[in-house]
Amino acid sequence: MRVAVTGGTGFVGIHTVRALKDAGHEVVIVARGTTRRPKGDRVTFVQADLTSATKLADTFAGCDAVVHLVAIIQERGRQTFDRVNREGTERVVEAAKQAKVGHFVHQGALGADPDPRYPYLLSKWSAEQAVRASGVPYTALRPGLIFGPGDGFFTLLTRMMRINPVIPIAGDGRTLFQPISVGDVTRCIVLALERGPATRVYEIGGPDQMSYEDIVRTIKTALGLHRKIVHVPVPMMMPVAFMMEKVLRHPPVTRDQLRMLGRHNITRVDSVRVGFGFDAERFADNCDYLQDY
Ligand SMILES: NC(=O)c1ccc[n+]([C@@H]2O[C@H](COP(=O)([O-])OP(=O)(O)OC[C@H]3O[C@@H](n4cnc5c(N)ncnc54)[C@H](OP(=O)(O)O)[C@@H]3O)[C@@H](O)[C@H]2O)c1
Repeated sequence: MRVAVTGGTGFVGIHTVRALKDAGHEVVIVARGTTRRPKGDRVTFVQADLTSATKLADTFAGCDAVVHLVAIIQERGRQTFDRVNREGTERVVEAAKQAKVGHFVHQGALGADPDPRYPYLLSKWSAEQAVRASGVPYTALRPGLIFGPGDGFFTLLTRMMRINPVIPIAGDGRTLFQPISVGDVTRCIVLALERGPATRVYEIGGPDQMSYEDIVRTIKTALGLHRKIVHVPVPMMMPVAFMMEKVLRHPPVTRDQLRMLGRHNITRVDSVRVGFGFDAERFADNCDYLQDY
C-alpha cells in the first residue's frame, strides 16, 4: 500500500513509519518538518502546515490510506487545540475525501469528550466526530498514554526524577492511567490498515491500570533511584503550571493537564486482545529504555 502519514515526524509517527516500511508499505510523511524531514527508500516527505494547507488532496492522490497522527497536547501561540486538532483534522479528512482515499486511520485519544472543561479532550472528540461524519471509510483508535523511546511523558518524568531529590505528585496521585507501548500502538495501526475500514472506534490500553504514583514508583525501581514522594494539592500547583507555561518552551505540566488529572484515563485491560488479537506489553516489564534519559 501507499500510505500517507500525517505527523510522521513525531513520536508515534517515527515508530509508525518504521512499522509500515517493515510491513512492506510505501510511506508519504506529511508534517511541517520542524525537527526532521525524513526521506529515503520508500519514504517521501511533504511539507505542510495543517492549519493552513490547501494542497493536501494532491498529496493524498494515489494513496490507498491516510494515517492521521497530527495533534498537539500543549497549546503554543498559533498552535491551538482548535486549529491543529479539530480544524487540522477536518482539513485532512476533507482532502482524503477529495482524493478518494479508501481508508482513513484516525489516531484519537482515550478520554476524548465534548466536556469544554477539558479543551484537549474536547478537540480530540471534535476531530473524531469530523472523521466519523466525513463519509470516508475509517478506523479510529483511542490509545491511552503511550510509552516508548522518544515519548513525551515518561522520558520527561524520568529526567525530572533524576535531577530532583523530591518528586511532587499533584493531588492524591490515584488517578488511573493505562500505559500502552508505542510498538503495540503501531502494530494496531498496521493491522487496522491491513484489515480495511472497520467504521468504528477502538479504545486501546496496556494490560495494567496504574496510578500516577504507581508509574513514579515503577520508574524509581527500574532505575534504582531513591526519591521521596510528596503530594501537592492541585490548586497549589495551578499557579506553578501557569508560570511554567509562560516561561518554558516545553513545560513539564500545564494547567489543562492538571485538570485532566481529575479523571481516570482507562479502558478494558484486555482491549488490545479483544480488538486486535494480541496481548499488549506491560510498562513495568518494558521501561528499560528510560535508562537512556
Ligand atoms: N503520546 C501519547 O501518549 C498519546 C496518547 C494518546 C493519543 N496520542 C495521539 O497520538 C498522536 C501522535 O502523538 P505524538 O505523541 O506522536 O505527538 P508528537 O510527538 O508531538 O507529534 C506531533 C506531530 O504532528 C506534527 N505537527 C504538529 N503541528 C502540526 C501542524 N500545524 N501541521 C502539520 N504537522 C504538525 C509534528 O511535526 P512537525 O513539528 O514537523 O510539524 C509531529 O510530527 C496524536 O494524535 C495524539 O493526540 C498520543
